[in-house]
Amino acid sequence: MLQLTPWPEHFSASIRVPGDKSITHRGILMSALANGVMELTDWLDAADTRASLGLVQAIGVEVLEDRPGLLRLKRSGELREPLGPIDCGNSGTTMRLGAGLLNGVAGLSVLIGDESLSRRPMARVADPLRELGGVIFTRSSGTAPLAIVGGRLRGGHVRLAIASAQVKSACLLAGLTAEEPVSVRELLATRDHTERMIHAMGGQITVRGLEATVQPGRLEAIAFSVPGDPSSAAFWAAMAALRPGRRVVIEKVLLSPARTGFFRVLANAGATVELVEEGTVPESWGHIVVTGNTLKAVQIDAQDVPAMVDEVPLVALLATQAQGMSEIRGAEELRVKESDRIRVTTHILETFGAAVQERPDGWRIEGATPLTGGMVEAAQDHRMAMLAAVASTVTTGPVSLSGEESVAISYPEFFRQFLAVKGA
Ligand code: S3P
Repeated sequence: MLQLTPWPEHFSASIRVPGDKSITHRGILMSALANGVMELTDWLDAADTRASLGLVQAIGVEVLEDRPGLLRLKRSGELREPLGPIDCGNSGTTMRLGAGLLNGVAGLSVLIGDESLSRRPMARVADPLRELGGVIFTRSSGTAPLAIVGGRLRGGHVRLAIASAQVKSACLLAGLTAEEPVSVRELLATRDHTERMIHAMGGQITVRGLEATVQPGRLEAIAFSVPGDPSSAAFWAAMAALRPGRRVVIEKVLLSPARTGFFRVLANAGATVELVEEGTVPESWGHIVVTGNTLKAVQIDAQDVPAMVDEVPLVALLATQAQGMSEIRGAEELRVKESDRIRVTTHILETFGAAVQERPDGWRIEGATPLTGGMVEAAQDHRMAMLAAVASTVTTGPVSLSGEESVAISYPEFFRQFLAVKGA
């Protein structure tokens, strides 16, 4: 249990956030499909990405170097059937992208996860892989464990019924080891890191609107520096935006438009937001400056969600401090994340005294209301723990937070930085 005491009204800070989780996962997983040494500088070293590292090691990727700031991986020979079940821990990305990747490994692969991951829907990835000819099993409830019989995927065309970069990526990775090309048509545009990385690694991929087509073939390993994670940067940006007179600079952050929807919402709500590009490899990156102003209500719908899917709970928090009625719709995917993030966010904000009306696909929130503080529980969900911490910077009383250790999933240094900024 962590005791978080009220914050000063104003502060100014400069922050460096850890490497992007989505890009780190992909770099690790795709090393299994490549010739040569894959080198990731500034990679995210956290529990989730370590799960992906465990997966590729289990099928024959060798770790040449594993230290803070540098990961070097090399596939040695043919991929081999894992000796036992592969534990994906809490990581949906490891399990779903892994389910695609393992079609390229002859023999049986079994993927298991922790309690939260074992509750999350996996039929969404098993069904399209089966349509492509893959042999994959789930429990009868459509959940993990997953069993994949590799070497059988033919290829073809799939149309996805939900907007999910994880499912799209699983199909594309499976396509690299299929007999024929794989085309995936998505419902809404989601993060395109997999497509970009396949291209950068010499793979044959074409993207036309919402449809990506990949040709089977071996990739070539690359070396790159992983920009900071915009989903981690969002917590600092929200802290600044919550009160006039606060300012944060977040350095070296991924600025892909497919990931920066939250920063566009902050600007619409009235915060001053600058995204300053400093480089374009492996994707656009640079620094972000956020200055708080008086906030006004926001309207979010399904089209807006993919570019900020993990940040939507922060929009709900901002809405409690914004003038007027905010509506957040089309975010039902949040119910099947590491926790039911619609439910848990409602619970946290209500405990603090906000006027929140929960809906199946989001919330209606009236602001601005003062937040009091109180005792909350992160439901073993890293992003819920950080949401409560960000809220505590505007509560009038202390916040007691349990489940704070879950930040190890994506942002192990979060609370150390949080306390350092407060003390500064
Ligand atoms: C991710 C995609 C998103 C996101 C997750 C990471 C990815 O999930 O919530 O944290 O790396 O592709 P969905 O694709 O299931 O929406």
